[in-house]
Amino acid sequence: MLPEIVKWDNNNLFILDQRKIPMEISYLKCSNYQEVASAIEKMAIRGAPAIGIAAAYGVALASLQGRDSSKKALERLSRTRPTAVNLFWALDRMEKVLDHSEEMCLFRDLLAEADHIYKEDIEINMAIGQHGATLVQGRSLIMTHCNAGALATGGYGTALGVIRKLQEDHGNVKVYACETRPVLQGSRLTSWELQQDGIDVTVICDNMAALVMKLNYVEAVIVGADRVASNGDVANKVGTYGLAVLASFHKIPFLVASPISTFDMTLETGRDIPIEERDGNEIRIIGHNRVIPDLIRVYNPAFDVTPAHLISAIITEKGCIFKPDSGKISTFLKSLKKE
Ligand code: MRU
Repeated sequence: MLPEIVKWDNNNLFILDQRKIPMEISYLKCSNYQEVASAIEKMAIRGAPAIGIAAAYGVALASLQGRDSSKKALERLSRTRPTAVNLFWALDRMEKVLDHSEEMCLFRDLLAEADHIYKEDIEINMAIGQHGATLVQGRSLIMTHCNAGALATGGYGTALGVIRKLQEDHGNVKVYACETRPVLQGSRLTSWELQQDGIDVTVICDNMAALVMKLNYVEAVIVGADRVASNGDVANKVGTYGLAVLASFHKIPFLVASPISTFDMTLETGRDIPIEERDGNEIRIIGHNRVIPDLIRVYNPAFDVTPAHLISAIITEKGCIFKPDSGKISTFLKSLKKE
């Protein structure tokens, strides 16, 4: 059983500190929205849906100090990480509750909405897992990047949700997890998470992906998403674009598992997606050791954009969009409104 990403207890938010996994399983106590914002910025909690969930609880926490404090929390939390649209989607939901709730019920309503965002995400991921496993059945050698698992979501995971369901249905799944420099979400988190579920996982350095594909060790690549533009371009952890190019060269299906809340129909293409650039020390320092000489510049974008034409399908909770483009995505989303 994997630990919950957040726990609400006695009007505090406890965040599973993912910086410490796999060495230690511990929770960070947040007593106000500023501490939640800092936990998101420092990546104690990370992964697009998980950031949205933590931020939602941050707004609820702030309402203990009144409506104004919740408004300030919306603003502060929206400045934590720019790329994953789920953050803004969750904050929008919280703002609607904030605007419509009576003073007396404010805290209760905001907490209920945060709980709802959290629990709903698990069901969404299980549906993504079902659609993805149907699509991928017959293939058992899967490569993934970063961590789009239970730790990055309300539970079960998006890309790892597909892998979990595949394993539940057919067994015998073998996963290659790219280590995902510089924060190592693949080697620290994905490998740990899959190990807890007894799924066969092998970690490789990011620069080994081409060789592993050439050796026919990979039958499908499945990754998560931080934001999908209306033409199907996908922002995800830096390195995803490289894997998509390699998968195309080796004729391996490249699949993106993404909840519909990750689609941003206000953006025409992936060029419009804001890409977070993080502190260079994430690259300069490994453990307690500097691995780059002083005065050397580093470049540390946290995400890249994979163009839609390299994506075989986007797997959502409502089904798959094959070879995504603007027309297919808009038709797909319109068909959902009619449901
Ligand atoms: O910087 P991170 O760890 O927040 O990046 C996470 C990713 O890129 C995930 O693949 C993405 O958020 C999808 S999580 C279901």
